[in-house]
Amino acid sequence: MTQIKIFDTTLRDGEQSPGVNLNQLEKLELAKQLERFGVDIMEAGFPASSQGDFDAVKKIAETVKNVQVAGLARAVKSDIDACRDALKNAENPRLHVFIATSPIHMEYKLKKTPDEVIETAVEMVKYGKQFFDNIEWSAEDASRTDLDFLAKIIEKVIDAGATVINLPDTVGYTMPREYGAMFRYIKENVPNIDKVDLSCHCHDDLGMALANSFAAVENGATQVEGTINGIGERAGNASLEEFSVALNIRNDYYPYHTNVVLKEIKRTSDMVSKFTGMTVPGNKAVVGRNAFAHESGIHQDGVLKNAQTYEIITPELVGVQSNNLVLGKHSGRHAFTDKISQLGFSLTDDKVKEAFKAFKSLTDRKKEVTDDDLFAILTDIQTDTSNVKRYTLEDFKVQYGSSDKPSATVRLKTPNDEQIEDTGTGQGSVEALYNTLDQIIHEDTHLTDFQLNSIGQGRDALAEVHVSLTVDGLSVSGRGSAQDVLEAAVQAYLNGVNRAIYHQKSE
Ligand code: KIV
Ligand code: ZN
Repeated sequence: MTQIKIFDTTLRDGEQSPGVNLNQLEKLELAKQLERFGVDIMEAGFPASSQGDFDAVKKIAETVKNVQVAGLARAVKSDIDACRDALKNAENPRLHVFIATSPIHMEYKLKKTPDEVIETAVEMVKYGKQFFDNIEWSAEDASRTDLDFLAKIIEKVIDAGATVINLPDTVGYTMPREYGAMFRYIKENVPNIDKVDLSCHCHDDLGMALANSFAAVENGATQVEGTINGIGERAGNASLEEFSVALNIRNDYYPYHTNVVLKEIKRTSDMVSKFTGMTVPGNKAVVGRNAFAHESGIHQDGVLKNAQTYEIITPELVGVQSNNLVLGKHSGRHAFTDKISQLGFSLTDDKVKEAFKAFKSLTDRKKEVTDDDLFAILTDIQTDTSNVKRYTLEDFKVQYGSSDKPSATVRLKTPNDEQIEDTGTGQGSVEALYNTLDQIIHEDTHLTDFQLNSIGQGRDALAEVHVSLTVDGLSVSGRGSAQDVLEAAVQAYLNGVNRAIYHQKSE
């Protein structure tokens, strides 16, 4: 069976999703989870794009060891230099350098002739080769590129030292048969093609990303690029959990396998959704809330008689546990610390103490504490930026009556350690709270989006709120989870403001 290498770009293309901005701690936690998930290569970021991205790529490269770490570069020396510096401590680094090859991109964006594009591509691969053995070269907008030109430039960049050739469907324009034919053409018309891995990278503008990835694999691609939950530019990228589960379920049809650890899928998907604020739709394949729910009587009857009548994927395969009840009110610190490592976290002693306190206060209010609840608590604590001065909630009250104007009183500790209390009103309870917070917070803050979800099921499920804000002109997201919806709403708002403060301090 041929191995298909999985190249994850959640931290780069995924992070380019509108409204998503992950901080360094979140990127690091995601990188560790992607390593557990078993990707072969992770694209940790675009080091030349900002100091924050550079630092995050560097930190990831120093931390994860069982996976190749790639950095993205345009075909310019300074971008390649930034990758060299950010990846210098990586166990297994890869440079990913790209240049556009379609007529429209070459003429209007690059303002270069095809010959100049070849010259730049070759020169930059040779330049990168001084620092990297492993170089992926991408022909941006390959699917709208003239095939003869594509074959010509690929042959030259392989001669210059590229070890992987990636042919992206950058704008999600191509159809599966067409995309597959492009790979076949390149296989048949580039004399040195067998020296490299061929890779596909598909966007989902026409809903074809997954089908196109399979078409590429059927025609010689040995690397598939994509993201968790399919997040990414515009309509997103091919979803890696869908690709790997489809290969596994249809191993009667495809003679390929991946190194992906399928039971890590749910957790990886949850973490991406939590950190990015991009909620997974209920009907999403593999990881949606309804992916294993059988609603119609006929289906339920069939599943009870034999699950395989309507269930081709078992929840257990992808790490969805039907009964993941773990710890309760009487669980001690020992059981709690064991659980922390079972869930894949390694926390400092202080953070373990903090997490245990949060767990205990949750058990006062919630009878059944699940893995999902613990995961929410632990990721919040692990990615908390509390070493930076910030706003913290001391207390709040809301008065609501269906015929009165809601009002809120909030007491905050500010970054200067002052205690400030104020009262405000709004059209609803959340607005009253947010107006009051705005009166206290020094920064100029505007709410642009608000989403409320529950973690797990049942009346006592935790509430999770995601907000998008601008804080002094900077777009940030914030999240908060609590048993009470209003408390989660306040925590999410403060989290967004604190992230903006952290961002300004660390840039
Ligand atoms: O979609 C695309 O073309 C890309 C490249 C940078 C590989 O993301
Ligand atoms: Zn892309």
